[in-house]
Amino acid sequence: MSVFLNGRFTPDAEATISVFDRGFVFGDGVYELVPVYSRKPFRLDDHLRRLQASLDEIRLANPYAIDEWRELILQLIALQDFADQSVYIQVTRGVAPRDHPFPKGVSPTVFVFAQPLVTASAELKRTGVCAVTAVDNRWSRCNIKAISLLANILLRQQAVDVGCAETLLLREGWLTEGAASNIFVVKNGVLLAPPPSNLILTGITYDVVLELAAAHGIPHEVRAISEAEVRSADELWMTSSTREIMAIVTLDGVAVGAGVPGPLAQRMDALYQTFKQQVMRA
Ligand SMILES: Cc1ncc(COP(=O)(O)O)c(C=O)c1O
Repeated sequence: MSVFLNGRFTPDAEATISVFDRGFVFGDGVYELVPVYSRKPFRLDDHLRRLQASLDEIRLANPYAIDEWRELILQLIALQDFADQSVYIQVTRGVAPRDHPFPKGVSPTVFVFAQPLVTASAELKRTGVCAVTAVDNRWSRCNIKAISLLANILLRQQAVDVGCAETLLLREGWLTEGAASNIFVVKNGVLLAPPPSNLILTGITYDVVLELAAAHGIPHEVRAISEAEVRSADELWMTSSTREIMAIVTLDGVAVGAGVPGPLAQRMDALYQTFKQQVMRA
């Protein structure tokens, strides 16, 4: 597999970085994950905008202009021998002796690789998945797509430990997001989404879902959602670039609505799949 590291395309086995990279030592960096369908990156400019926003938040200059990013990502996609890919982009504050302050005169480390894109199987879409809840004990800058994902990993593992797909996070009684996804609630035919803030990572999929809801006249509200509303939802969905729109049918062992993927989840998934096809053909 060819990867991109610090300005060069190279076989993955030959791509090496210093053990003093601040990404390795401190988790001092940010990342993006771009789904690629039939070699066409989905919403690339949105991902690059969010990368810029993350870099701005951690005060790290973007090593490339948007056109340079686009070019190198397209080159990397072309080098792979599989068509549906998930392209991972990571930028760290570079290599320096271990000390907290930002090092001076150090180039960031840029690492980009592609792996085969694995989306949900038809069977999983048919059955839906289970989820658990946990207190959102992450920091208050969750809008940064930071590589330091320890809190998310520990929270997600709580779901994995009981055979579930995701952990829904509640902060002071309000829904924030999933450990690795955004969460939507359906109640009485209205699609509800927590508002963008420093307490969630606003997903590219989240944006697409709200655009599709607006375009197709699906009633929707972006507003704070209480734990009580989550627990009495008719439908719950998790969304992300790799999981797309996935219905949650059991929460903490209790059925969500009828305990099967709801009609709005199925409709939104169909709209999303059609939208993807249009983008691929464009
Ligand atoms: C914490 C968190 N929130 C939301 C998302 C969804 O973002 P996107 O739809 O851009 O994949 C992710 C995706 O990895 C995530 O890790």
